[in-house]
Amino acid sequence: MTPPLIDPFARAIEYLRVSVTDRCDFRCAYCMSENMTFLPKKQLLTLEELDRLCTAFVRLGVRKLRITGGEPLVRRGIMGFFEGMSRHLGQGLHEITLTTNGSQLDRFARSLWDAGVRRVNVSLDTLDPDKFKAITRWGSLEKVRRGIDAAQAAGLRVKINAVALKGFNEDELFDLVEWCARGDMDLTFIEVMPMGDMGDAGADGADGTLRLDQYWPLEDLRARLAERFTLTDLPLKTGGPARYVRLEETGQQVGFITPLTHNFCESCNRVRLTCTGELFMCLGQEDNADLRAVLRGSQDDDVLERAIRDAIARKPKGHDFDYSRSRADGQMSRHMSHTGG
Ligand code: 5AD
Ligand code: SF4
Repeated sequence: MTPPLIDPFARAIEYLRVSVTDRCDFRCAYCMSENMTFLPKKQLLTLEELDRLCTAFVRLGVRKLRITGGEPLVRRGIMGFFEGMSRHLGQGLHEITLTTNGSQLDRFARSLWDAGVRRVNVSLDTLDPDKFKAITRWGSLEKVRRGIDAAQAAGLRVKINAVALKGFNEDELFDLVEWCARGDMDLTFIEVMPMGDMGDAGADGADGTLRLDQYWPLEDLRARLAERFTLTDLPLKTGGPARYVRLEETGQQVGFITPLTHNFCESCNRVRLTCTGELFMCLGQEDNADLRAVLRGSQDDDVLERAIRDAIARKPKGHDFDYSRSRADGQMSRHMSHTGG
């Protein structure tokens, strides 16, 4: 048997997040500017390269694959990739999950289920159609809600991810919680992160409700939840940055992802692959390994496995959003849509 991937701090790397495209059919104000330029196609890993690389990771012990973007479902032929990956399920791979904006779910829910996907995370920050339009610029809440319905009808478990934005969805905290409880969906709030060049974000928003400079600390969000619900802390389990509580009144699970204020690195079991084949060993640091060059330079899977092992050997102990390491203006120089959320 191939020895598993263990990093220098004895963490077994079992979770790979893969961004399959930087493209998206939305233009969320906190994520990209409206006139975002995307990468030329030839820079992206082909679907065959993605398959070869993910297969190598599964051989090396990855048990969970999360497919992200951009919006993964806008990549042409992506269902073929999911179908291909399904051959590893039960053969080392435990789970394939998807993070999506939901816009294409009504079309793809069934095929995702057929490819062995059982859980999807849908990003949704507001239940107000006008605010939804304002924050996503191009999205339709109605279409996403149809997508969520289709996903549930197909049997997929849906989790909602909402970016917490002060002055934007603060007033919808309980509506979101209750809507998720009614739909039997878990809910995770994400603290907004300074990422990439946000272009005109902040000055945008037809009704003037977008004030993205207003970061909403999840400590505050949690305290407000505790005014209405009894919160029970749940044990850590995912190895990721999320912390979970159970709301005793509804039984639902609510998560908090606070990448800026929490140190969750000790249990980090994950690495991220960008759509261009760079492997990031840590979301908070710029160090990465160019696996596309390795893929294109040799058809030998031993060479590929060695490159992956060498990269994992550089996984740092912890991250810091220490901006001196990224860009002088205090933003990470890469987009979430490139690295994957
Ligand atoms: N801060 C926090 N979350 C973000 N996402 C995209 N950009 C940011 C940001 N700047 C989220 C999306 C989605 C997840 C994949 O990443 O809303 O929920
Ligand atoms: Fe697209 Fe997600 Fe970025 Fe919104 S946050 S523009 S849905 S990649």
